[in-house]
Amino acid sequence: MKNLRLFLPLSIFFLAIWTREFVPCNPLKDDYCQGINQALSSSFTDEFREPSSFFDVFSERGETKYTNDGLKIIINKRFDNPSIRSTFYILFGKVEVIAKSAAGRGIISSVFLQSDDLDEIDLEWIGSAKDTVQSNYFAKGDVRDYSRGGYHHVEDCHNQFHNYTIDWTAESLSFYIDNLKVRQIFNDEPTNVYGYPQTPMAVYLGTWVGGDPGNQVGTIQWAGGLTDFNDGPFTMEVNRIVISDYSSGKYYKYHGKSGDWSSIQSIDGTVNGRINQAANEFSILSSEDVPQNKQNVDSNGDQSAEKDRRSFSQFSGKFKAESVDNNSTKVEVAKSGILFLFIGGYILSLFI
Ligand SMILES: *[C@@H]1O[C@H](CO)[C@@H](O)[C@H](O)[C@H]1NC(C)=O
Ligand SMILES: *[C@@H]1O[C@H](CO)[C@@H](O)[C@H](O)[C@H]1NC(C)=O
Ligand SMILES: *[C@@H]1O[C@H](CO)[C@@H](O)[C@H](O)[C@H]1NC(C)=O
Repeated sequence: MKNLRLFLPLSIFFLAIWTREFVPCNPLKDDYCQGINQALSSSFTDEFREPSSFFDVFSERGETKYTNDGLKIIINKRFDNPSIRSTFYILFGKVEVIAKSAAGRGIISSVFLQSDDLDEIDLEWIGSAKDTVQSNYFAKGDVRDYSRGGYHHVEDCHNQFHNYTIDWTAESLSFYIDNLKVRQIFNDEPTNVYGYPQTPMAVYLGTWVGGDPGNQVGTIQWAGGLTDFNDGPFTMEVNRIVISDYSSGKYYKYHGKSGDWSSIQSIDGTVNGRINQAANEFSILSSEDVPQNKQNVDSNGDQSAEKDRRSFSQFSGKFKAESVDNNSTKVEVAKSGILFLFIGGYILSLFI
């Protein structure tokens, strides 16, 4: 009966194989990783007056509040790092964020795009730098080179809303602040020795404490010094987001281990297949008046009419995001049930 004790290692082995199919994993490093990402393949705008079906809470430490003035992402105390993450991925696209960054020494506000193989596009604001935003990009998690960071002037970013827009294509990556292009990187630039981001990305919004005393000295310095939590709460505000996906399809799927965009297949669609349509949708959605300029949009009637215009729904991202939510919840429930069975089985095997 002792060999029942094999049950634990065996069950962990199978559980590991099985959970990898559902948990985000690196398709270039992990042989069991399916490398399938839910596609947005649409455009939408959200003013975050209520929890968005396009986003999940990514970190529960800290506060995310949905108000008539939009999303507030709040650090109240040490170890808070509130953030939300999109339920979908885009494979090239345009992202507009109308935001105010959080003030406070050592506090970092961030908007970033990241793929499962760790391509990344970043916007970061330092809580003691009241007129600077940093842009950056990485490929395949290669962080050897921090010299690519860009610093851009922006007026009083903790107290004024500004329009930060990222336009990401196979050829180039552009950053705009209030309609001014402040930076453009080309995929084929010889200086891109550490690569160019080109795999399907999810969108994250959040704040974290760079000035935590437990961080490395370099991080604390970069963040502007140690955070004094008595100065809190520290709040980043997002008034509106507009996102357009340049590719069409249901899922984006990795093939092979190159991580080149040409190796990504769209299931039931085409990579870059809706680039013109998306540009058109984006300009319609982003030309809607931004919330802080709107006058008294507080009657329910107005808001629901507005909601109807929020997504291009012949291929509705909203619906898809909901259906994924439902299924992943089921998967989670099923997973914890089976985990209990495994643990129960193991404990039983100790007594037999
Ligand atoms: C934000 O900037 C982008 C890029 O310039 C632009 O396309 C978009 O219309 C702007 N949004 C607003 C509300 O001005
Ligand atoms: C998800 O589940 C909720 C509650 O179970 C249900 O009301 C909703 O219609 C479901 N959404 C989809 C897309 O199936
Ligand atoms: C969710 O599950 C239902 C059945 O359980 C299935 O028909 C549907 O295709 C699933 N949706 C996704 C997005 O996986």
